[in-house]
Amino acid sequence: MKKLLWTVCLLGFLVPQNFGLQVQYDGTLTNNGHGELEEKEDPRSYLENYDYKKYHPIEEIYKWMSQIRESYNKVVTQHFLGMTYEARPMNYLKISEPASTQKKIIWMDCGIHAREWIAPAFCQWFVKEILQNYKTDSRISRFLRKLDFYILPVLNIDGYVYTWTHDRLWRKSRSSHNNGTCFGTDLNRNFNVSWCNTGASKNCPDLTFCGTGPVSEPETKAVSSFIESKKDDILCYLTMHSYGQLILTPYGYTQNRPSTYDELIRVGQKAAEALKAKHGNNYRVGSSSEILYSTSGSSRDWAYDIGIPFSYTFELRDNGTYGFLLPEDQIQPTCEETMAAVLSILDDIFEKEWSTDRAVMLAPATMGLSVFLTFMLFF
Ligand SMILES: *[C@@H]1O[C@H](CO)[C@@H](O)[C@H](O)[C@H]1NC(C)=O
Ligand SMILES: *[C@@H]1O[C@H](CO)[C@@H](O)[C@H](O)[C@H]1NC(C)=O
Ligand SMILES: *[C@@H]1O[C@H](CO)[C@@H](O)[C@H](O)[C@H]1NC(C)=O
Ligand SMILES: [Zn+2]
Repeated sequence: MKKLLWTVCLLGFLVPQNFGLQVQYDGTLTNNGHGELEEKEDPRSYLENYDYKKYHPIEEIYKWMSQIRESYNKVVTQHFLGMTYEARPMNYLKISEPASTQKKIIWMDCGIHAREWIAPAFCQWFVKEILQNYKTDSRISRFLRKLDFYILPVLNIDGYVYTWTHDRLWRKSRSSHNNGTCFGTDLNRNFNVSWCNTGASKNCPDLTFCGTGPVSEPETKAVSSFIESKKDDILCYLTMHSYGQLILTPYGYTQNRPSTYDELIRVGQKAAEALKAKHGNNYRVGSSSEILYSTSGSSRDWAYDIGIPFSYTFELRDNGTYGFLLPEDQIQPTCEETMAAVLSILDDIFEKEWSTDRAVMLAPATMGLSVFLTFMLFF
């Protein structure tokens, strides 16, 4: 009897919705090539059925992005950043709760290095987590009241495509050099910061080829001109790589420590602790030049030096057992622990920017002042 009631309730709920969908998505009856008419999937079910525990070719990621945008059109918009060298559109997703107030921005990009497939998988996971939880999880809804998330799931799209079609271990972009005899710039050596001074090469065949000049590549140009235009509002720049299990702070181009080094390390270490609490994995935290290697022209250093206060590179799993070829059964645990780390960073940034302590400190002071003023007025 109870079961029947439930069924009736469910039907009552589903029927008008389905009906609404058919109207809303009119014109989506497509011919599947076998002469049969197929109904296009409900975008929301596509989103929920999308397999976040698999690696996806770029066509599926493009489709996923547009489905996300359609299903969550109240909070998600998709924006064009520019074209890649091979003329593929670069789009980012903006997750933003409608509000009249100006909000701050958290930027995240993934897949600047083509073969680091776990990185784009994480960007997609991150979007899913935010969208599935922003209404129910108080931590995430608190963030969204003050922050917008800008996510670029695959920065180096041409290279990513190449890893699916030709060479799984390709790292660079696919721009043509030396009269068409050599391909690819390391986009993470092409940003306009201490360009090609250390840990980078001017020879195209090298893995760390820095390009023909700072920001010589269309992908770097698209990202850096956009970030530059928003830099006053961006509180945090996150760029996801693999592998090595590291959280890297500026700088890579010098052994000198940035002025906010201690704070960057403290926030990073707390994130590494949150990460470890999830599945027991150890990450090291430090500046690139101190705990990994020197690099110039990296997006992290560039973002920090244009004034974005928190800037981190994540090197995700693993420690070298599988390296870039991280098996799909590690996608979920990697994303879960990375999510914990990113949320920890966001907590700290949130506290710093909109600290409740400050409000508490201010209140008595303001009160004291007004009592004093009232006193002065009356006497
Ligand atoms: C570049 O390649 C073209 C066509 O293969 C050739 O005609 C030209 O001489 C080459 N230029 C240089 C500088 O090697
Ligand atoms: C690189 O940055 C410097 C300032 O640090 C600026 O003068 C120069 O125009 C920039 N170059 C490019 C290609 O953006
Ligand atoms: C990976 O390397 C780090 C640093 O050397 C170490 O702390 C950690 O235990 C290693 N993790 C695994 C799973 O081997
Ligand atoms: Zn990388």
